Amino acid sequence: MKFFIDTANLEEIKKAVDMGMVDGVTTNPSLIARENKPFVEIIKDICKIVDGPISAEVIALDAEGMVREGRELAAIHSNIVIKIPMTTEGLKAVKTLADEKIRTNVTLIFSASQALMAAKAGASYASPFVGRLDDISQNGMDLISDIMNIYDNYGYATEVIVASIRNPIHVVDAALLGAHIATIPFKVIAQLARHPLTDLGMEQFLADWEKRTKA
Ligand code: E4P
Repeated sequence: MKFFIDTANLEEIKKAVDMGMVDGVTTNPSLIARENKPFVEIIKDICKIVDGPISAEVIALDAEGMVREGRELAAIHSNIVIKIPMTTEGLKAVKTLADEKIRTNVTLIFSASQALMAAKAGASYASPFVGRLDDISQNGMDLISDIMNIYDNYGYATEVIVASIRNPIHVVDAALLGAHIATIPFKVIAQLARHPLTDLGMEQFLADWEKRTKA
């Protein structure tokens, strides 16, 4: 399973890269807005740190505007993937960009029908948001299972990015379903590595070692 980091914060990206856990990066307008730098500058900086797909999202609501922004962003670096919202205008933009060999990530997917349409339009990636579904009492992971089955049935090349991840269980469940990618906030990447019994075991090993050398 590939791990993308879901942040625009360079420090978090660097720390996760040092852990060897970053295959790509996803950003969105909310994540970009948290940083104190112009959008394009942030994306260029991320490209210097990570050699993998880096999603940058368009702001336009019409297909023409999305395509224009998409072309501009794609020109920054070959690793840029254009993040497009799951709307009918977005689907048109995905088709145009796919014809130009520009990779897209269809975002804000909340149903299997939306994921099917993203794949048909030629999206390179589809991002279903599990956490936001869980937040409204719908099981987000059921959606991942449905999308994986549909993509499997027809051999779509579109890769599923499990997004809106809130905890380590989301990541493990996504892996059990065979999802291609999880895009994970830094806090959850750190949580994935931790176990209290590991900490306790280390403490005990070191304490025993101390006793042995003193004897
Ligand atoms: C995905 O690409 C989005 O950036 C992200 O996963 C959204 O997560 P949130 O629901 O925690 O905002």
